[in-house]
Amino acid sequence: MGGVKKRNKKSRKNAKKVAWRLFLSIILGLPVVFLAAGYIINYFRGPAKSMAPLFESSVHVMYVFGDSTVAAGDPLMTPRPFGIDWPEGVTKNEPNGRFCNGYTVADLLAKHLNIPIPQSYNSLDKKKVKLEGTGINFASAGCGLLQDTRPFAKFQCYPILDQVHQMLYGPKKWDAKARFDEAVYVISVGGNDLMFSLNGKDPTVFARQLGSEMGNLLKTLYEQVGGRTYFVNNVGPLGCIPNNRERSGLEKKCNQELNVAAVEYNRVLDEVLLNFSRISDDSTVVVVADSHKLFSLLLESPTMFGFSNATAPCCGVWVDSKGMFECNGTSPLCSKSERDGYIFFDGAHTTASANQKFLELCVDKTICSVVGKQLSI
Ligand SMILES: *[C@@H]1O[C@H](CO)[C@@H](O)[C@H](O)[C@H]1NC(C)=O
Ligand SMILES: *[C@@H]1O[C@H](CO)[C@@H](O)[C@H](O)[C@H]1NC(C)=O
Ligand SMILES: *[C@@H]1O[C@H](CO)[C@@H](O)[C@H](O)[C@H]1NC(C)=O
Repeated sequence: MGGVKKRNKKSRKNAKKVAWRLFLSIILGLPVVFLAAGYIINYFRGPAKSMAPLFESSVHVMYVFGDSTVAAGDPLMTPRPFGIDWPEGVTKNEPNGRFCNGYTVADLLAKHLNIPIPQSYNSLDKKKVKLEGTGINFASAGCGLLQDTRPFAKFQCYPILDQVHQMLYGPKKWDAKARFDEAVYVISVGGNDLMFSLNGKDPTVFARQLGSEMGNLLKTLYEQVGGRTYFVNNVGPLGCIPNNRERSGLEKKCNQELNVAAVEYNRVLDEVLLNFSRISDDSTVVVVADSHKLFSLLLESPTMFGFSNATAPCCGVWVDSKGMFECNGTSPLCSKSERDGYIFFDGAHTTASANQKFLELCVDKTICSVVGKQLSI
């Protein structure tokens, strides 16, 4: 416990120091023109969407693992205007630590399932961690599937298997309220690995390496924790986040190398999830959320989905020395109505309104599906 506490203190200090140098993972990238056209036609004219619930089993609590796409952790990393549109009156698990102006996809999923938005492990006093049936969010901004993934060498964050170990060994005593078998396990990770650890490696080989880590993660949650219901996010066209566009210079093009690697990883991920669903028991449900499809659609035709700007961040100025948009209390910030119409809130993360669109198109099954379901009919 002492070690964890010390580490946490250190990590907070470090976080403060480096907060503005954070590069983060995300959901975004390569506009797939032909597919987009097809999807849009389907979206507007296609058959009625399935209104069946996302999960057949009932879930009562949520555990979250991953990166800044779902983190709710260290408030020092995300001062205002992050969290600026968090709904008034929702004080529990307030917006601190989210890389967003409001709800993340994990928050929105919890609300949709009518279960509590889980508290963040990284902002809790570890001695007082109690479950109370409210779930826990272990996600840690900047890290990923691989132990070494992080934006720069000494950046403090928890790789995903460490997050699972925090769950297994962290809190002194888990009790029946943890409801591990009746929980949904939200996993949103991989973007940081692609952005910070690919480094010119063969994308196919690298994708397999990441896939193998994802397989280990699922196996651990299944065998050691007892998880049966999973919600797994794939990675979006990362090369198209504002930071990566800006890095390309005046043309502000998407980084195609990253986009190709993201597609490759998603392909392996599908295979890993299918394999997992085959070896797990009948009560196991894995829902995959196709972030890549969603953001390819939104980036290709933002106005079709009610968005006005798919390229610029709402908050931040470009800082050459850091190679990223810096968003903080003194940065230019777009207006409330613009925040509703922009896809990106900062240089790497989506707005609450883009996250809302994600949830809508997930619930109606445009981007979410149960892995292996078609095979069991
Ligand atoms: C999935 O399982 C098949 C059959 O066991 C195996 O050949 C393949 O390598 C697995 N794929 C991944 C990505 O683990
Ligand atoms: C998005 O916003 C940026 C910065 O304000 C602007 O330069 C760009 O033209 C906008 N794009 C669209 C499609 O309005
Ligand atoms: C906020 O961002 C600006 C512009 O990038 C930077 O000059 C300033 O130091 C930042 N402020 C803090 C408190 O980090």
